[in-house]
Amino acid sequence: MHIAILYNRDHELLEDDPGREAREDVTRVATALSEALTRGDTHAEPLAVEGSRLDFVDLLARMQPDLVINLCESVAADSRGEMVIPCLLDMLGLPYTGSPALSLGLALHKDKAKELLKVRGVSTPGFARVDRLEDVGLVDLPFPLIVKPAREDASMGISGDSVVHDRAALGRAVEAVLRTFQQPALVEQFIPGREIYVPLLGNNPRRALPLTEIRFGKHFEDRPNIVTYAAKWESNSPEYKDSPSAPCQLEDPVLEARLVKTAVEAFAALECQDYGRVDLRVSPEGVPYVIDINPNCDLHPDAGFAKAARAAGIDYPALATRLVEIALERAHGHPTTRRKGPGAARFLDPANRNVLAGRSNGRNRARRSRASAE
Ligand SMILES: Nc1ncnc2c1ncn2[C@@H]1O[C@H](COP(=O)(O)OP(=O)(O)O)[C@@H](O)[C@H]1O
Ligand SMILES: [Mg+2]
Repeated sequence: MHIAILYNRDHELLEDDPGREAREDVTRVATALSEALTRGDTHAEPLAVEGSRLDFVDLLARMQPDLVINLCESVAADSRGEMVIPCLLDMLGLPYTGSPALSLGLALHKDKAKELLKVRGVSTPGFARVDRLEDVGLVDLPFPLIVKPAREDASMGISGDSVVHDRAALGRAVEAVLRTFQQPALVEQFIPGREIYVPLLGNNPRRALPLTEIRFGKHFEDRPNIVTYAAKWESNSPEYKDSPSAPCQLEDPVLEARLVKTAVEAFAALECQDYGRVDLRVSPEGVPYVIDINPNCDLHPDAGFAKAARAAGIDYPALATRLVEIALERAHGHPTTRRKGPGAARFLDPANRNVLAGRSNGRNRARRSRASAE
């Protein structure tokens, strides 16, 4: 089996990139997955999307890998480009791991995602989107609030100053987001209390891996208990050292069940698939609130998802293999019912086939009409 591991190489593109560490991380994930998967007749090869260059499209068209592991989190150092990649893979008719463009786009348009959660009755903090500084006065939410970029992830733009207690600080935080990220600010009710992540794996069935809790230590005693950019990425910072995360066993099974149910509902609301992580805060009253949905979450061997898998007895090579199986099964059906023989992998069950898949060339069209004639 030939697997292409597609990742963004754009961390050196901007002189002053507020998300450089996060972007650089994905290169290491590509290497780790390649090492974990390459054995026997399986070859997993990293392939970089360089800035906004499209060379990788032709390369993939020629390669025709059996599967693409899609690790791309941005294009040309812009997170909003993340959703472009699944569209191009759909046009090439190649199966890939993780969520489709719609889910990635919604997860990175946090206000849209929250609107969906609201209509589906999934609890998420009250919010307002602010596009222009002069609209800050229209925000009608009780303090304290947290201000974040509406189109980023990986804690980009999150610092202690993001949590605000009055109008003046709110204005400053919104201004910082608008100026640094050139995108709307999401103003959200700040939920004090525990921060717990629910890692999800699989489609049918979908299971939760052991839940992960962030333990805010001494450094956070007189600061907001939040995962700032430094806490997530700057390994020498006191924030990083004092906010370890680890798989946890919740003492309250009712709360655990509630967290998992809420996370699964949020994941389904965005039509996410294969794997991902839903981040929640639990209010002092014990109500779980969804604060963030991460469809194609970080797969670094030391990041939360792999740690949670390990706690469930799934080591990194086993997790990598499972991700490949889950994506292939979604694209082609269960191995026991899959057709055998050369090219058989591209006979997709129509129910699972993306509308665009198979249209990339005459060969695939011919196969499709033959398949439908049978
Ligand atoms: N509504 C909220 N209440 C309390 N803390 C929050 C809230 N929203 C975000 N945070 C804190 O900020 C961090 C980053 O926010 P998040 O929404 O997860 O953005 P990202 O997509 O960048 O990870 C969270 O891990 C959490 O610590
Ligand atoms: Mg998050």
